[in-house]
Amino acid sequence: VTPGELPPTIAWAGDRIRLIDQRRLPDELVVVEVTTVAALCECIRSLAVRGAPALGAAGAMGVALASVRGASLTEAAEALIGTRPTAVNLAAGVRRALAAADPVAEAVGLAEEDLAVNRSIGHHGVTVVGHGARVLTHCNAGALACVGYGTALGVVRAAHDAGRSPFVWVDETRPVLQGSRLTAWELDRAGIPFRVIVDGAAGALMAAGEVDLVLVGADRVTRSGDVVNKVGTYGLAVLARHHGIPFHVAVPFSTIDPSTGTGADVPIEERDEAEVLAWAGRRVAPAGARARNPAFDVTPAELVTSYLTDRGILEPGSLRLAVDDPVRGGS
Ligand code: MRU
Repeated sequence: VTPGELPPTIAWAGDRIRLIDQRRLPDELVVVEVTTVAALCECIRSLAVRGAPALGAAGAMGVALASVRGASLTEAAEALIGTRPTAVNLAAGVRRALAAADPVAEAVGLAEEDLAVNRSIGHHGVTVVGHGARVLTHCNAGALACVGYGTALGVVRAAHDAGRSPFVWVDETRPVLQGSRLTAWELDRAGIPFRVIVDGAAGALMAAGEVDLVLVGADRVTRSGDVVNKVGTYGLAVLARHHGIPFHVAVPFSTIDPSTGTGADVPIEERDEAEVLAWAGRRVAPAGARARNPAFDVTPAELVTSYLTDRGILEPGSLRLAVDDPVRGGS
């Protein structure tokens, strides 16, 4: 790995999985080896590996792991799918490997595809990033959320590589700080200028004319075009609409799930209250205080300017056509 370049977020290594332990970033870049499905499930639950496309690869590799260990594939599949409910990629990756004659080859193929898909999203999406554009992003939709390169941050990378000199406002993304820990780390390594902001600062920056576009990823896009992504995304979309700022969603076409009708049909993961009541591992709320911790929210399709996909740029009106007829619908 050359300086600035990252090892794959998750990779198949003969008979085991290697993954970057994202709980330890940005302090240290540690690649851990995972040899059992139970250990992989724990890595997923604790966010050692996270982000929708990376979860897709993890799901497929989990089934591959069960197959090389001679374990029950259906039990492995059930355990993996049960770890996190919201991202469509996890269950889709599991099912794809389960249906394959050779789960290992399928999982490796899925991981290779992910990289190609993200580069293609960057290729198409770069057109929405004007020269010197100030992009606001939420959570981490970068290389760390995928096998590599990234979706929303992939578009930023493509713009940077094309000499468009993008600048990024990085929402810190409470409670687990995927923005300040992971997105900032990736941008720093890539030499892309950025500033971290508290989530509550986005509206003030938009009002001050300091944001040119919002660019986020998604855990699932429904058939109606509703976008399920890290909690806080919906608020950004409402603010962007109020201020006349474009709101773009960068997604692999496979994240658009034709079997989910609208956002109301998507299970939203509720995580441990302790994540909200503490900061950096230290309890800050008074003893006895309770919290709610929905990890995702739903942005209605009507607030989306466009979906930047590996098959081209789609608008809410053309999304359903593309999903119903993937050959003719993509631009
Ligand atoms: O809880 P996380 O960190 O898995 O949530 C990740 C996100 O919300 C990302 O924005 C989404 O998965 C898209 S990643 C390309």
